[in-house]
Amino acid sequence: MNFELKTLDLAGAASAHCDVLLLPVAQTGIEALKAGTGTLPGLLASALEHGDFSAEAGKQLHLYQSSGVEARRVLLLGVGQGSVRELRDAIQGAAPYLKAEGVRHAVLCLSALPAVQEAHIAHAVQSLHDACYQYQLTKSKAKPLTLGKLTLAVPDKAAVATAFAQGQAIALGQQLAKEWGNRPANHATPTDLAKAAQTLAQAPQMSCKIHGPKDVAKLGMHAFMAVAQGSKEPLQFIELHYQGAGKAQAPVVLVGKGITFDTGGISLKPAAAMDEMKFDMCGAASVLGVFQALAELQPQINVVGLIPACENMPDGGAVKPGDVITSMDGQTIEILNTDAEGRLVLCDALSYAKRFAPSTLIDIATLTGACVIALGGVRSGLYASCDTLAQELQQAGEAAQDLCWRMPLDEDYAEGLKSNFADMGNVAGRAAGSITAAKFLQRFVGDARWAHLDIAGTAWKEGKAKGATGRPVGLLVQYLLGQQAVAPEAKPGPKKAGSKKTAAKK
Ligand code: BES
Ligand code: MN
Ligand code: ZN
Repeated sequence: MNFELKTLDLAGAASAHCDVLLLPVAQTGIEALKAGTGTLPGLLASALEHGDFSAEAGKQLHLYQSSGVEARRVLLLGVGQGSVRELRDAIQGAAPYLKAEGVRHAVLCLSALPAVQEAHIAHAVQSLHDACYQYQLTKSKAKPLTLGKLTLAVPDKAAVATAFAQGQAIALGQQLAKEWGNRPANHATPTDLAKAAQTLAQAPQMSCKIHGPKDVAKLGMHAFMAVAQGSKEPLQFIELHYQGAGKAQAPVVLVGKGITFDTGGISLKPAAAMDEMKFDMCGAASVLGVFQALAELQPQINVVGLIPACENMPDGGAVKPGDVITSMDGQTIEILNTDAEGRLVLCDALSYAKRFAPSTLIDIATLTGACVIALGGVRSGLYASCDTLAQELQQAGEAAQDLCWRMPLDEDYAEGLKSNFADMGNVAGRAAGSITAAKFLQRFVGDARWAHLDIAGTAWKEGKAKGATGRPVGLLVQYLLGQQAVAPEAKPGPKKAGSKKTAAKK
């Protein structure tokens, strides 16, 4: 998709040659528009006068071949108060117009909105990408969009160029996360994910190491291996590096749960909706998405991405309830329920993460059905060992419109993890299931500055709109870009101009 940012006022938008012109209108901007001259303000004033349109959020009016407007179709979009969220919803509502056959070039003109901020730009870009995303890989008659060109028209291009670039990068990351999330498990194996990581690592400042089954055994990751042992698909432990700052700067380490299919193992899941367990690698997909965005933006930070990827299957070799295994860091675990596999693959990845002495360690996982019950599809569950980290992530979520909600980590919640036969069990009863899972993970992070995002409710949508959401790529990229500002190297100083693009490929 060719996507450009352009300076255009309303007169410019009226004479833009395109197939569809999207024009968001806010209630607060109406008087100024009515007072203006030109074709578009005139059309708008007339539509308002006849009661055919209002700027209320969600309103739409479709105009065809209006005289004085070059675009064949014009879509007026009511955005209420003109908030980022209302703009996002309006663009989503216009998706059928962008996907319509015969639409080759679309223009979204924000020049009628009174107070366009950087956040509006970044989110408009993301929403446009989102509206244009189509899953195609396994559809034999998939029709690619005819839309090949998008123009975002603003009053002053230079003022919002950074926000545009950030929006683009986040959108590409979200799309990659969505695409991998959506792919069926037989088209998104651990090996496929490893290849995707290797492809990403061709970008400047990036590198990738794939640890296969033998390497993982050598590392002693027996909790991870226990989950994979019931599957014919070889496990892969994916290690991605992005080096945008000096070697001395401690990295942020992201760990993504990469269960490419979760049957539950011997503790088999019921058949209903089991297909959705292809989404159980959305944590991993979000890490890939973040690296895609890093490749685009090249910020001055260091990030490590770790993905334990395998299937959770029941076969003759599968791990059994009651089996006791020893994790990479030497703790013994009684596997009471083979369906609580996410924490088993993650605990070894978290132990491995410590070797990078991370400034911050964040794991992202579709970890518990209990989190879906607690928070639904609106906010991801956030756990953090440190209040400032919790605040930073919460704020990043607000800024990115990718919300999370902090949950507690009182030690009393760990009571149920006690086992008569090992250091701990891998489950702790039905109560507070998302929290007890987090308490399990906490035993493997030591004193690291750690956060855990339970994205079981937010990573995909069920029902008619079934599909991955690309969350929480927005939250994570927003957080990482904020780290750039606090990292010592990013302060005004002797950093050489242009140095970020010149680093050698690995
Ligand atoms: N991948 C699931 C969590 C899940 C379930 C996410 C439903 C989204 C929707 C995870 O591996 C799992 O099965 N968790 C169990 C844990 C239980 C056995 C303690 C669960 O939530 O039921
Ligand atoms: Mn499971
Ligand atoms: Zn799972």
